[in-house]
Amino acid sequence: MRIAMLGSGFIARFYATSLHAQRRKDRIISVYSRNIENAKRFAKDYGFEHFTDKMEEAVQHPDVDVVLISLPNHLHLPAVEAAAKAKKGVLCTKPLGRTAEEAKKMLDLAEEAGIFAGYLEDLCYTPKFLKSMESVKKGAIGKVLWAKSRETHPGPHSDWFWDMEKSGGGAIIDLGCHCVEISRNFIGKEIRPLEVMCWADTQVHPIDAEDHAIGLVKYANGAIGQFEVSWAFRGGMDLRDEVMGTEGTIWLNNFLRTGFEMFTTGGKDAYVAEKAEIDRGWLFPVGDEAHDLGYPHMFTDMFDAMEEGREPLETFYDGYVVNAILDAAFKSAETKKWEPVVLEDWRGNKSEEALRQAISYDDDYYLIKEEVLPNGDTKLILKHKKTGEVIQRVNS
Ligand SMILES: NC(=O)c1ccc[n+]([C@@H]2O[C@H](COP(=O)([O-])OP(=O)(O)OC[C@H]3O[C@@H](n4cnc5c(N)ncnc54)[C@H](O)[C@@H]3O)[C@@H](O)[C@H]2O)c1
Repeated sequence: MRIAMLGSGFIARFYATSLHAQRRKDRIISVYSRNIENAKRFAKDYGFEHFTDKMEEAVQHPDVDVVLISLPNHLHLPAVEAAAKAKKGVLCTKPLGRTAEEAKKMLDLAEEAGIFAGYLEDLCYTPKFLKSMESVKKGAIGKVLWAKSRETHPGPHSDWFWDMEKSGGGAIIDLGCHCVEISRNFIGKEIRPLEVMCWADTQVHPIDAEDHAIGLVKYANGAIGQFEVSWAFRGGMDLRDEVMGTEGTIWLNNFLRTGFEMFTTGGKDAYVAEKAEIDRGWLFPVGDEAHDLGYPHMFTDMFDAMEEGREPLETFYDGYVVNAILDAAFKSAETKKWEPVVLEDWRGNKSEEALRQAISYDDDYYLIKEEVLPNGDTKLILKHKKTGEVIQRVNS
């Protein structure tokens, strides 16, 4: 693929490093940055010629196959408009929009133009996540009942994140988008998210947006998604997921304390990992940060999908659903009530099977629980099928 990079900041560099790593063939051939000096530096650093301070010029460059949006949230829509106009494939970083309305416009633009559109939700491509999803899809943990995802760090690195007009919100929009999509994958994208209950507050920073939030997302099959986000967490970037199913459990720690610990007296300018805060003392570096954050698998899926004429694992439609869930979270944080997820365009299952599946023990009883006690006895908790009476039986 020949790529036009829009933006030359933090994520643009992460993407470029992943794209140009390890003999990969896909190449950035043009970069747009509003500051021409930054564009020039980016082109030099990643070894290509064309740079510009005009977005349209990068998008319309005749050799460009795909446009990669690495701009602040308020510029995602204009960038998708430019890609749709030029009929170029488009990949957009997260969150897709600042609101579901904005995300829907992007989805419609891409579908009307008939262009490929991928949602760059990297945390749904980490090696641990992909392996977990494979197990979940094979039924290894049964029916997913609860999927919790947490992303917390000490706060973002650029002014625009902290400006609600440009970002669309605080930690909910910035980090919650990852968590919501992680939970949604585990629970099943075909299952409709119904309503959201959310607490949010600005506990630390002098900003209008929330720097903390916890939310519950109720799904049509009874499963619950949970997100925990913070821009005030100290000690690095904490990316953890917990999935609970009827037949199993998955715990993922993607970043902090992944089995790599190092002590240094410091002073050597060692970059440890994103948002690490310190570079001396006991540190928790990340071996291959881009890989552990999912970027290589993400771009492989995107470009394979483009070539094979199929949808990628993460689409603009997914980005739209995520935005709709976050809209409900913002509303709930205000009203302090469960708020419906408004999806004018729902493409998943229309109805769900009841979640409860009672296990029959014998003709008369359901099995509630079986446990071996410290004395070696086995205790059975049973419920009578007709009377509903709950009893216990001890087998010595
Ligand atoms: N894990 C992830 O997927 C991940 C991580 C970080 C950021 N992001 C997303 O990437 C996007 C960019 O974030 P970032 O961290 O790279 O931010 P950044 O501030 O480091 O970089 C933003 C880029 O956009 C440019 N820019 C800023 N305001 C502009 C304007 N008004 N007009 C034109 N250009 C402007 C900046 O000069 C810079 O090149 C955001 O949507 C963010 O949510 C995703």
